[in-house]
Amino acid sequence: MEVTRGDVIRRGSEAVVHAGTWEDMKVVIKTRISKGYRHPSIDLQLRSERTRHEARMLRAARDHVWTPRIIDIDLKEHTIMMEMIEGPVVRDLVLEITDGNLDVRPDGGRDQISAIGRSIGAGLAKLHAGGLAHGDPTTSNMIYHDGEVWFIDLSLGSRGADIEEKAVDLRLLREAVESTHPGTTLFDDAIDGYLSTSPDGDAVVEHIERIDSRGRYRRRPAV
Ligand SMILES: Nc1ncnc2c1ncn2[C@@H]1O[C@H](COP(=O)(O)OP(=O)(O)O)[C@@H](O)[C@H]1O
Ligand SMILES: [Mg+2]
Repeated sequence: MEVTRGDVIRRGSEAVVHAGTWEDMKVVIKTRISKGYRHPSIDLQLRSERTRHEARMLRAARDHVWTPRIIDIDLKEHTIMMEMIEGPVVRDLVLEITDGNLDVRPDGGRDQISAIGRSIGAGLAKLHAGGLAHGDPTTSNMIYHDGEVWFIDLSLGSRGADIEEKAVDLRLLREAVESTHPGTTLFDDAIDGYLSTSPDGDAVVEHIERIDSRGRYRRRPAV
């Protein structure tokens, strides 16, 4: 098996992502890196477990949404090799649409944002219907390819997700949109897409408010 490692796409706190090629195919190799503050044997164990978990989640998600195919996983090297999905991360695409183009485009990019938001929501609804929670649904963990939103980075995801975990996914999306794409309709559009796709969407969306009010209650100063 001929694998060539190319440029670093991203160096995060937990993992380094390389572009590469395998046979004739463009691939991405994600390697979990050592955290110096952990005991060496615990560090090795955690990296293997998290690599295995992420690969399992990506495989499980593939039954429900667009997600890269896994080509190989190496628990000793803590790597996952997967197909490269060509296209911008949704974060960059949305920033490009909203950045300074509002005067140029007749609709200010609203229709495009709305279509992307609806795809995000529909995708999360399908994941949730399959019992999966994404765990980190930021717009950097979605790639826009061929008119579809692809989901990556399910390392914090879970299976057997209950209504709480589904609502938490939507809250995380809301936080990500508020901080990265403030002033856009992206989150509301995602909720529209979610509601029109999910069989129990209403209950999940209502549950967001329950979690919100719990948070407000907790933040009240003690008297
Ligand atoms: N399969 C893939 N195809 C194309 N780009 C990818 C792929 N997987 C990851 N990337 C790129 O690498 C970045 C980091 O990958 P990610 O899995 O989110 O790692 P991290 O855990 O560091 O956030 C992504 O935001 C994306 O730009
Ligand atoms: Mg990520």
